[in-house]
Amino acid sequence: MVGFFKQTIRDLPLDGQTVLVRVDYNVPLNDEGKIDDDLRIRASIPTLEYLLKRGCKLVLISHLGRPEGVDPSLSLAPIAVLLQELLGHDVRFIDECVGEAVYQGVRRAPKGSVLLLENLRFHPEEEADDHEFAKKLAKHSQASYFVQDGFSVVHRAHASTHAITLFLPSVAGFLIEQEYTSITEAMEEPKRPLVAVLGGAKVSDKILVVERFVKIADKIVIGGAMANTFLAYRGYSVGKSKVETDQKDTLDHLYAAARKKVGDNVDEFIILPTDVAVAPAVDEEEKRTIRSVKAMQPDDMALDIGDVTIEQFVATINSAATVIWNGPMGVDELSEFAHGSARLCLALATHPNITSIIGGGDTADFVLKWDGNGGKSFTHISTGGGASLDLMAGKKLPGVESLLDSHH
Ligand code: 3PG
Repeated sequence: MVGFFKQTIRDLPLDGQTVLVRVDYNVPLNDEGKIDDDLRIRASIPTLEYLLKRGCKLVLISHLGRPEGVDPSLSLAPIAVLLQELLGHDVRFIDECVGEAVYQGVRRAPKGSVLLLENLRFHPEEEADDHEFAKKLAKHSQASYFVQDGFSVVHRAHASTHAITLFLPSVAGFLIEQEYTSITEAMEEPKRPLVAVLGGAKVSDKILVVERFVKIADKIVIGGAMANTFLAYRGYSVGKSKVETDQKDTLDHLYAAARKKVGDNVDEFIILPTDVAVAPAVDEEEKRTIRSVKAMQPDDMALDIGDVTIEQFVATINSAATVIWNGPMGVDELSEFAHGSARLCLALATHPNITSIIGGGDTADFVLKWDGNGGKSFTHISTGGGASLDLMAGKKLPGVESLLDSHH
């Protein structure tokens, strides 16, 4: 078991205290501004319930989107309504995150209240990791403690993830602890064999993670648009498929490391598609045509892994004890090109003893839409996109590092 190296809410004398809690309610909004996916809100509930049971007054802070100044379309007000429903407890929204309205609102609220403050990023000081702004957050909220529970934002060193910890005793909530230990354990002490499934658009976004998996995984399977760059590098013609042409040096380096580890069996270690589903364009009217990777035509765009590859990837997953999956296998928003990701979901969900760790972002979105069981068919679905990638890459997360060290 990988232990958690920071203090958590279990370690503090919290009873009846006012607690400032950093959550990450940066949720996807649809074209009408409605909340598309409530995973991050649901994931914050265990910590909030625990603090409420201890009689705390909760002041919640978050960002939403990337506003430049105040932008009413990115207000957290609608999130307060949904949180109230999910928590089954009154949630009061205050339309500022610092200042007199916050001070008076918190002062008047009785113990056991939950207050959600307005979007932190309406103030540029938040992203600037500004100490004066953090001091105001601490002072105006009148909090005795700071709890970090926004796992998906701890890869940022911002006022609410870093500077704030200079002004209040700061510990982790349950989501941080669970995300950190699930991902770290799968990376550092996995049940073997460990298979990494990597997809998504770009090699360049994930290179540190791929490099780490070359060191620690027993097999790596590559799908999604990322596979096109690998296939082109290995000398295949990939037609009109998306390819990153500037990754030769990176892949030279990667394959050299892989050869050092497995010798000439490199193609059984880094497993690429042998066939792909192609179409002339990314369009919902297009049908999938299966093409061997040796026979792609100049007009082909690879939009999903092919049917033979699906069976090969599923067999690789079935031979694993731990699977870490990051990045979709195809253009999942089009059902014709979502076969690969859907079959991987099925393989993971029906494998009786597998530990399945799903990286956040697009992979988590797809898996949650696929799963009729609210995500419970998998061991862990991360709420973090960039944060889970950074953790998998072995980088330190500033928002976790700055919390109080555990005594254990
Ligand atoms: C995320 O969605 O990855 C986090 O909420 C961080 O958001 P950011 O990428 O805008 O900093």
